[in-house]
Amino acid sequence: MSTVFASIGTSLDGFLAGPNARPGNPLGDGGARIHRWVYEVEAWRERQNLLPGGGVVATVAHPSAEIVEENFARAGAYVMGHRMFAEGELAWPDPPPFRAPVFVLTHTPREPWVREGGTTFHFVTDGPEAALDAARKAAGDKDVQISGGAETVRTYLNAGLVDELEIHLAPILLGSGTRLLDGVDPELRLAPDRTVATPEVTHIRYRVG
Ligand SMILES: NC(=O)c1ccc[n+]([C@@H]2O[C@H](COP(=O)([O-])OP(=O)(O)OC[C@H]3O[C@@H](n4cnc5c(N)ncnc54)[C@H](OP(=O)(O)O)[C@@H]3O)[C@@H](O)[C@H]2O)c1
Repeated sequence: MSTVFASIGTSLDGFLAGPNARPGNPLGDGGARIHRWVYEVEAWRERQNLLPGGGVVATVAHPSAEIVEENFARAGAYVMGHRMFAEGELAWPDPPPFRAPVFVLTHTPREPWVREGGTTFHFVTDGPEAALDAARKAAGDKDVQISGGAETVRTYLNAGLVDELEIHLAPILLGSGTRLLDGVDPELRLAPDRTVATPEVTHIRYRVG
């Protein structure tokens, strides 16, 4: 059975997005600083259509490169909330970075949206378990990534459906915005099983449950 994992960047004070996040202002005011560490990782730049050219590419092995590559390699399907999708729809490059089926939790039915490069967005209106079942089927032998945002990660954590949670903790403060873990059951058991510390970010992976 696929592992279900979430892999989310946060500020040191626990926000996954700054204030005023909306389509046209993805990640909210100041929120892009959460991901500053990833912008020079080659595997990420490739998925954003930023290679070749388009800015600096790390010439030495980036300390976070393996983590980003591993994430892309293992994800056979994605589940995300509609607010994350609505921001990304305007911001992701064409083709989008997923290259796999993406199941969007929403209350608004919409026909599947097929994009170049293997990404198809499916809009799921019959709840989180149905979305995860569809993602598991689509992923085959690969894993399912719960992409975000906060409400969606919280829903799956509280339902006991996440096996692994990785936080990419940026050494910045946002002060306000959307917190990742507000409303998550405080009884949730988290066992750290990998920590990779770099000057720009600390990656902490937990087994859940
Ligand atoms: N830092 C990171 O790594 C990271 C990663 C991902 C996202 N983000 C950020 O996270 C923010 C979005 O997070 P969020 O917590 O506001 O929202 P979200 O989880 O992305 O989406 C919530 C929306 O999903 C739909 N939804 C959720 N549960 C549902 C259910 N059971 N049935 C049907 N629809 C359901 C609803 O949309 P409708 O009712 O509108 O259909 C709901 O408003 C964005 O700012 C994004 O940039 C950050």
